Amino acid sequence: MDLNLKQRTALVGGASKGIGYAIAHLLATEGMQVALVARHAEPLAEAAQRIRDETGATVFTIAADIRLADDCTRIVAQALQHFGRIDVLVNNDGAPPLGPLQSFDDLKWARAVEQNLMSVVRLTRGVLPGMTANQWGRIINITALSVLQPMVNFGLSVATWAGVIGYAKTLSLEMATQGVTVHTICPGRIATSRLGTVFGSGQPGEVSADELAKMASGIPMGRVGAPDEIAGLVAFLASPWAAYMTGCVHHVDGGRGASLL
Ligand SMILES: NC(=O)c1ccc[n+]([C@@H]2O[C@H](COP(=O)([O-])OP(=O)(O)OC[C@H]3O[C@@H](n4cnc5c(N)ncnc54)[C@H](OP(=O)(O)O)[C@@H]3O)[C@@H](O)[C@H]2O)c1
Repeated sequence: MDLNLKQRTALVGGASKGIGYAIAHLLATEGMQVALVARHAEPLAEAAQRIRDETGATVFTIAADIRLADDCTRIVAQALQHFGRIDVLVNNDGAPPLGPLQSFDDLKWARAVEQNLMSVVRLTRGVLPGMTANQWGRIINITALSVLQPMVNFGLSVATWAGVIGYAKTLSLEMATQGVTVHTICPGRIATSRLGTVFGSGQPGEVSADELAKMASGIPMGRVGAPDEIAGLVAFLASPWAAYMTGCVHHVDGGRGASLL
């Protein structure tokens, strides 16, 4: 199936590794030009070179911190300057600290709002004028299954990403006649270095086989997911084949989500 994404451009956050890298790699494989964002320039440049070497795509990097308003403005400006248009925005990055809600003061809350909600608002606001002018665009937000099924210690993310779901649904209505669709993806447990930080030893890096097996026992499919399994949905949602879908929340979680919808 041809996803008909050739000649289109994507701006992908958190793209030096993990889920964002897999998304950028797959979109590049589908023939898109991709702009990759992350804070650390060196791993970002290495990731971009790997994608160029393996796909032949045009890849551009922007080292920036999406928690900062000025960086969000710069990200959009540089991507537009380089490619002339942004057809697909993938809002993806890290996440605020874990811990009991009572342990967070106003500053920690404000930072979480900047990271999880305002980055989405700012980057989306930056790309929308071009998308509406072209009558074609895709906004795809990566959040987490914990937003639909809250877990203790994940409160900063749950509360702020719940805001993203409300923002995305409202925006999907406002954009419904403009050719711009809006989606939110809620991954379950996906094998990235972050998984080790959050659920494994507490250290970033590969997750051990033992840790993976322990996590897998709580997942109906009996395994954690692969970053490519998020990327595949993003590529489909980005494609014209998904033109009649908008305002949706998708969980990609090996069946772990316990709600009926
Ligand atoms: N892995 C899972 O099981 C899982 C499950 C549910 C939800 N998620 C969510 O999915 C997203 C991606 O997770 P992942 O597992 O792929 O994480 P990851 O492997 O740690 O990758 C995170 C990426 O985001 C970049 N990043 C982090 N903070 C940033 C910031 N402030 N500004 C710009 N870039 C930033 C990182 O590069 P730099 O450090 O260089 O900036 C890196 O490229 C996160 O929001 C995570 O909470 C993950």
